[in-house]
Amino acid sequence: MATRRDFLKVTAAGTASFSLPAGKVSAPLGWGVPARKAPLRILFIGGTGFIGPHMVRAAQARGHIPTIFNRGKTHPGLFPEVERLLGDRDGGLDVLKGRTWDCVVDTSGYVPRVVRASAQMLKAQAKHYLFISTGDVYKDLAVENLDEDYDKAVLPEPTSEDTRKYYGPLKVVCEQEVRNAFPESHTIIRPGWIVGPGDNAHLFTYWLVRIDRGGEVIAPGDPTDPVQVIDARDMAEWIVRMLENRTTGAFNATGPGSRLSMAEFLYGIRGITTSDVRFSWVPTPFLLERKIRPWSDMPIWYPPIGDHKGNGLISPKRAIAAGLTYRPLADTARDTLQWFKSTGEAWESTTARRPGLTAAREAELLAEWHKTGR
Ligand SMILES: NC(=O)c1ccc[n+]([C@@H]2O[C@H](COP(=O)([O-])OP(=O)(O)OC[C@H]3O[C@@H](n4cnc5c(N)ncnc54)[C@H](OP(=O)(O)O)[C@@H]3O)[C@@H](O)[C@H]2O)c1
Repeated sequence: MATRRDFLKVTAAGTASFSLPAGKVSAPLGWGVPARKAPLRILFIGGTGFIGPHMVRAAQARGHIPTIFNRGKTHPGLFPEVERLLGDRDGGLDVLKGRTWDCVVDTSGYVPRVVRASAQMLKAQAKHYLFISTGDVYKDLAVENLDEDYDKAVLPEPTSEDTRKYYGPLKVVCEQEVRNAFPESHTIIRPGWIVGPGDNAHLFTYWLVRIDRGGEVIAPGDPTDPVQVIDARDMAEWIVRMLENRTTGAFNATGPGSRLSMAEFLYGIRGITTSDVRFSWVPTPFLLERKIRPWSDMPIWYPPIGDHKGNGLISPKRAIAAGLTYRPLADTARDTLQWFKSTGEAWESTTARRPGLTAAREAELLAEWHKTGR
């Protein structure tokens, strides 16, 4: 069975192209606090994929001075006003030599050797290193309200750099590399599923587009199954405040702040469309028997059983105590759907890989489901 990890690895490669809507970061709850007087000089290792642009914009909105370091391949036209240093972080860090920054935000580290190189080099050039890790660092999701101290995944082949096979375990070792180089001044962010405008993985977009299309929609599992998503903009704004406050330590970045059921999630999305939609709840065993994969065929949903009993329930308590706030799901859903429509892309595209069921497969399954008399 494919897992959420499988999908993360695919999306880590950044397969789809898109353009972000222009404009400033909106001002959600908790965002009205004045910025520190001295602007921070922030080096982003990455910065032009999905979450990076939101962070760069959030830093700009607070008056900070971003520099972006990347290869110039992903959305090269983004941020013409921002200093860009070109290089490959795998063996090509020379362009960073002799420069100093207040903080580093590393959004593109997957391989310990590569993270070690940047962290070791920058420990003499920056005061603070913030690393974007993942909720996949935990050995499993078998418990509810799992916190940052829960056991981590172990890399079974210590020399492996196979990010497709060992995404989570490699991030565990990357985190250690950051701690080694910045023992007193590191921040580790472990996001759950990140959504919002510019989301190139499209798991969340599946539900937006599907519900917006209307008709009978397969709603997977039990309506009470928990689900978590975090808006990239909420995470970005919080991260910038963490940098301003020099907040260190490890933090789960999941949302929302209280339990969200699959029913609330789907009906919440329905609330931002005008479509004539009907949900048919199709139980987990029926779906699994027909090889419907949680997470990739039924995006963002995972039945809360076995090693996934705590799926959708990773605790953001520590992050909330450190200032993480959330905009309503409706804002995230509306803005993301609007963004996707603005790209002009067809959902059932022949060139782009899309998660979720095709319309044809969903109709087949619904016909089979109704034959059971339910
Ligand atoms: N999506 C999720 O739901 C989710 C969940 C948990 C954690 N995460 C984490 O979020 C991060 C991904 O965010 P993102 O891709 O949206 O970040 P991003 O910073 O927006 O995009 C990736 C950046 O890395 C640069 N890059 C890639 N390879 C590079 C290299 N060898 N040398 C220098 N720059 C390089 C890319 O530019 P160039 O291609 O031009 O070099 C691009 O600017 C990852 O750390 C991932 O583990 C994501």
